[in-house]
Amino acid sequence: MYAAHFNLALTPFSLTPDTRFYVGLPQHEAALAVLNTALAAGEGFIKVTGEVGTGKTLLCRLLLKQAQADWQLAYLPDPSVSPLELRWALAAELGLKYSANIDASQLLQLLQRQLILLAQSGKKIILVIDEAQGLPDDTLESLRLLTNLETEQRKLLQVVLFGQPELDQRLASQQFRQLRQRISFSYVLPVMSPAQIRFYVRHRLQVAGATPALFNSFALLAIGRYSRGIPRLVNLLAHKGLMLAYGEGKSRVTARHIRFAAEDTEDTRRSKRHYVWLLSGAAVFSAACVGWMWR
Ligand SMILES: Nc1ncnc2c1ncn2[C@@H]1O[C@H](COP(=O)(O)OP(=O)(O)OP(=O)(O)O)[C@@H](O)[C@H]1O
Ligand SMILES: [Mg+2]
Repeated sequence: MYAAHFNLALTPFSLTPDTRFYVGLPQHEAALAVLNTALAAGEGFIKVTGEVGTGKTLLCRLLLKQAQADWQLAYLPDPSVSPLELRWALAAELGLKYSANIDASQLLQLLQRQLILLAQSGKKIILVIDEAQGLPDDTLESLRLLTNLETEQRKLLQVVLFGQPELDQRLASQQFRQLRQRISFSYVLPVMSPAQIRFYVRHRLQVAGATPALFNSFALLAIGRYSRGIPRLVNLLAHKGLMLAYGEGKSRVTARHIRFAAEDTEDTRRSKRHYVWLLSGAAVFSAACVGWMWR
């Protein structure tokens, strides 16, 4: 909509986790390093958790895109499946054909044979699960049983879990202690610092072919405040800011545009209200202090 007005080749702040816009922030680079190290070491379970909108699906896509020649990847984007459906999903990714006549234990044997064949041809088989906080309890437990498949030398299946903090809460329960002990590598994605937000916005603008000065520095400060460092909220605010500036025929996005954008954005209102509460709390406190001094 505003692309021609701002001379943009691409939309800079779309919500899709598009790897062309990847910004190599230290936290995302560290997560990728953990994943690569753990996968190279043949670890059974690796876990990356982070708040909603912090870039897990983007990392997942980067991992799939940067797959090494000896990796055979199986990707499960929607984990709300039963243990049997999980096995069939993995079987399909490994090239096995569905048959209604095969029961759960026969399927496990077939899977084991296929995993051994692939391992013999020099492949590392990696199951990548996004939104892992949504795995039903019995499916989560059945994953552990799948990673029990191993030769004398190594695991036949490695599992990478990407999930929201609820995944850690569930794994903390007594019921999952066996699975928890098998997760030898994990990483928690932090939110972005104010300096990282500035870098992030400017980098995405550059990829889209815009001048990095399209947002003035007060607009960047406002994005930092309302987004709380969460990349998806940064994208939302920046996109709405561009729309508002375009609507007014302006060539730059200012803090006023971001303020309006925040008022119109669900998850950023709370921080604004929080700010108002803080200010009114401070006012009441100062009034009380002044009153006490004059007693
Ligand atoms: N390092 C980064 N570089 C560029 N864009 C990023 C980066 N991190 C996050 N984003 C962007 O932020 C948005 C949210 O990212 P993503 O969808 O991966 O979050 P998520 O953690 O999977 O969220 P959810 O918990 O809701 O599934 C996407 O538009 C994504 O492209
Ligand atoms: Mg996601």
